[in-house]
Amino acid sequence: MGAWLLIVLSFIFHHQFEVLGLATSSDHDFSYMNSVYNATDLPIRDEYDYIIVGGGTAGCPLAATLSANYSVLVVERGSAPSSYPMVLTADGIFGNLLQEDDGKTPAQRFTSEDGVANVRGRILGGTSMINGGFFSRADDQFYNESGINWDMDTAEEAYQWVEDTIVFHLNLSAWQSTFKDGLLEAGVTPDNGFTLQHLVGTKSSGSIFDNEGKRHGAVELLNRGVLENLKVAVEAWVERIIFSSKASGVSASGVKYSDSQGKTHTALVRDGGEVILSAGAIGSPQLLLLSGVGPFANLSSQGISVVLENPDVGNHMADNPRNNVNIVVPFGLDPSIPQVAGITNEFNYLESSSSIIPFSFPQPFSLFPNGTSPLELSVVFIVDKFAGPLSSGSLWLVSSADVKVSPAVRFNYFEDPEDLARCVRGMRLVGDMLKTSSMQGFKFEDLEGAEGFKFLGPALPINQSDDASMEEFCRSTVTTIWHYHGGCLVGKVVNGDLKVVGTNSLRVVDSSIFNSSPGTNPQATLMMIGRYIGLRILQEREAAK
Ligand SMILES: Cc1cc2nc3c(=O)[nH]c(=O)nc-3n(C[C@H](O)[C@H](O)[C@H](O)COP(=O)(O)OP(=O)(O)OC[C@H]3O[C@@H](n4cnc5c(N)ncnc54)[C@H](O)[C@@H]3O)c2cc1C
Ligand SMILES: *[C@@H]1O[C@H](CO)[C@@H](O)[C@H](O)[C@H]1NC(C)=O
Ligand SMILES: *[C@@H]1O[C@H](CO)[C@@H](O)[C@H](O)[C@H]1NC(C)=O
Ligand SMILES: *[C@@H]1O[C@H](CO)[C@@H](O)[C@H](O)[C@H]1NC(C)=O
Ligand SMILES: *[C@@H]1O[C@H](CO)[C@@H](O)[C@H](O)[C@H]1NC(C)=O
Ligand SMILES: *[C@@H]1O[C@H](CO)[C@@H](O)[C@H](O)[C@H]1NC(C)=O
Ligand SMILES: *[C@@H]1O[C@H](CO)[C@@H](O)[C@H](O)[C@H]1NC(C)=O
Ligand SMILES: *[C@@H]1O[C@H](CO)[C@@H](O)[C@H](O)[C@H]1NC(C)=O
Repeated sequence: MGAWLLIVLSFIFHHQFEVLGLATSSDHDFSYMNSVYNATDLPIRDEYDYIIVGGGTAGCPLAATLSANYSVLVVERGSAPSSYPMVLTADGIFGNLLQEDDGKTPAQRFTSEDGVANVRGRILGGTSMINGGFFSRADDQFYNESGINWDMDTAEEAYQWVEDTIVFHLNLSAWQSTFKDGLLEAGVTPDNGFTLQHLVGTKSSGSIFDNEGKRHGAVELLNRGVLENLKVAVEAWVERIIFSSKASGVSASGVKYSDSQGKTHTALVRDGGEVILSAGAIGSPQLLLLSGVGPFANLSSQGISVVLENPDVGNHMADNPRNNVNIVVPFGLDPSIPQVAGITNEFNYLESSSSIIPFSFPQPFSLFPNGTSPLELSVVFIVDKFAGPLSSGSLWLVSSADVKVSPAVRFNYFEDPEDLARCVRGMRLVGDMLKTSSMQGFKFEDLEGAEGFKFLGPALPINQSDDASMEEFCRSTVTTIWHYHGGCLVGKVVNGDLKVVGTNSLRVVDSSIFNSSPGTNPQATLMMIGRYIGLRILQEREAAK
């Protein structure tokens, strides 16, 4: 009897232990709106302890943390999420959220010089308000290789602070559950169950969507701040950083930002304070360049006076290629956000989502035996991403005056042969997954191998042992998984505390500092780093008192 009781108790304890570490409320918490101001309503000149440029995935947790003891201004070019309710639910990502760009909508579309369409967030909460919500911590190697000065206890505390606020353990949807079985059958083992850790094998992970499909983006981390110390200006575009020369060198003393009526505001930092760029991998290098920090030849050829020469600003821009196969499902299947990841020891990450695609045109291929054409089709997307990547490119200004003109960026997908080899390995694994018994029910006809599936878009090459055709598949189907990063790398543009080298009171805290994308998906790490740097700044100032 006693033993049975122990087992039951230990089951309950462990079960609760896991659940207790995550968020439980499933209502949107809009308390942060008490701190949000239309930039037109803010003074033309003002002073704060900290100015954070970009209220995004890393910027929000950073601002909340610093507001515990200091006055903080967040300057965000987008609007508050309530202006675009489609960011608040999972239906948004299955709808037009990523397609609509009128210059103000939450997803800003851009195309890299590689010709690949891409998107970045333009809303309070940043790209975490338009993403797939999958939440998984960084790989162990990341801590060793990121160049950041880590205090691992503080990092752990920072993750947990994020997780118990906005991260949920969802029930696996029907498709995610099948996908998980398929990965295990294809040899992506062991089954690591539900975990936020980056472990080789197959796992399910957290989400910033709750079980009701509500998104809890980085914006809700603002609620953990001291709202009286926090001002968030929305529809506020930072145009440049204000520098001053001091005996100790070049110091960031504030920013110039413009509101929706074109009026320019000046926000200055008080002694001991800082300007912190959290404008994302495109926005932060762009702002450094516009402010005169960057490669000498580039800046001077564009008529920008050089404040500080640094050849690496805008360099080492990388984007992990995404390659996928899309399978039309011969039955109705609910849409599903990514909940499962396959992680191989060769750095491949497999993830998937499913969606319902409306067909308003005659069917391009005869799908249904009876010749009818349904108005909607269920489609599953099986995606390969790999770590790194090793290939990289650069970012440069298209306009030296107008911050609203996006810079140009080139990622040079597959320039490094190892990236191509990783893609080939990943797509072979996708091929193996399709052959598993878990996937047989997704065929239209009972045929061998990948035959019998109906692909939406390209199918994998028939001969998957042939390197040349697999490489050709990788190159011709490359797109983005939106984990682009770089431009302000640690060790090149910022130091291990994320301070811009050669300056005082200026840091960069966002995906521009990475030389490699952390974990399977970066948002967990970005939110942790926002909180982490905030805590470190508080600790530093406490120690200096
Ligand atoms: C479609 C999509 C799906 C994704 N899915 C996932 C996923 O499932 N899981 C995951 O972990 N990651 C996912 N990602 C990636 C992840 O969301 C991003 O890597 C991450 O959010 C980037 O965070 P950041 O802090 O670097 O920048 P952002 O969150 O983009 O923040 C930058 C902020 O700065 C603002 N800004 C920029 N310039 C200025 C300026 N001049 N003045 C004022 N404000 C400015 C922007 O408006 C923005 O709010 C996805 C991304 C996309 C696009
Ligand atoms: C901010 O104020 C301006 C000027 O009154 C207005 O045009 C704009 O729509 C306002 N934006 C928001 C989000 O309220
Ligand atoms: C990280 O570095 C530590 C100390 O050098 C080492 O023990 C550990 O194996 C490294 N971990 C990884 C994943 O590289
Ligand atoms: C999730 O699963 C649990 C246990 O099976 C069930 O009680 C609950 O209703 C499910 N929640 C949703 C939103 O489906
Ligand atoms: C500016 O930068 C880009 C990308 O790094 C480079 O191709 C170009 O040659 C540079 N121009 C000048 C004038 O230095
Ligand atoms: C034709 O196919 C559609 C799609 O599967 C199905 O819904 C419908 O019931 C079929 N009709 C007949 C007569 O079999
Ligand atoms: C598949 O490709 C490999 C490598 O190119 C080749 O050796 C093999 O003969 C091919 N198989 C078939 C059936 O064509
Ligand atoms: C922050 O505020 C707390 C509570 O008011 C105080 O104990 C602490 O010393 C402050 N820390 C700093 C760095 O000012």
